[in-house]
Amino acid sequence: MPLGYTFAMIKPSACRKNHVGPILAMINQAGFRISAIRSTKLDKEEAEQFYEMHRGKEFYESLCDFMSSGPIIAILLEKENAIEDFRKLIGNTNPTMAEEGTIRKMFAESLQKNAVHGSDTPENAEREANFFFNQRERY
Ligand code: CMP
Repeated sequence: MPLGYTFAMIKPSACRKNHVGPILAMINQAGFRISAIRSTKLDKEEAEQFYEMHRGKEFYESLCDFMSSGPIIAILLEKENAIEDFRKLIGNTNPTMAEEGTIRKMFAESLQKNAVHGSDTPENAEREANFFFNQRERY
């Protein structure tokens, strides 16, 4: 299987609680290579753009407020079967349903503060990676 990419983000709640190191260690141990990484902070408008596909849903405003409430870590990851394998590593979007040993089971506080984001399709991975990284920042 050819190498593939996925985009991941460590959310403000997990950054605030100093979970960045342990989460990155789990990502590396699962065989992902970090192609690009940056600590940054989204403003409300940027969070709205990033989560554009959820516009209109009842959780959208609150999600965008939360995602712009503090620093995040944006990460481009490379691995065979990257999208699917990363979603397995992080577990169910709702941490109450996440499997033991997954990142969300270990570090999520709630459905919104679910520690990490992971792309769900190659098209979204591409769009989300382009949102944060230019070509010179990817190795
Ligand atoms: P994420 O992987 O970042 O993608 C969209 C986010 O919206 C998701 O993780 C959750 O944090 C949040 N989300 C999804 N569904 C709901 C919901 N029903 N209520 C509140 N937040 C949600």
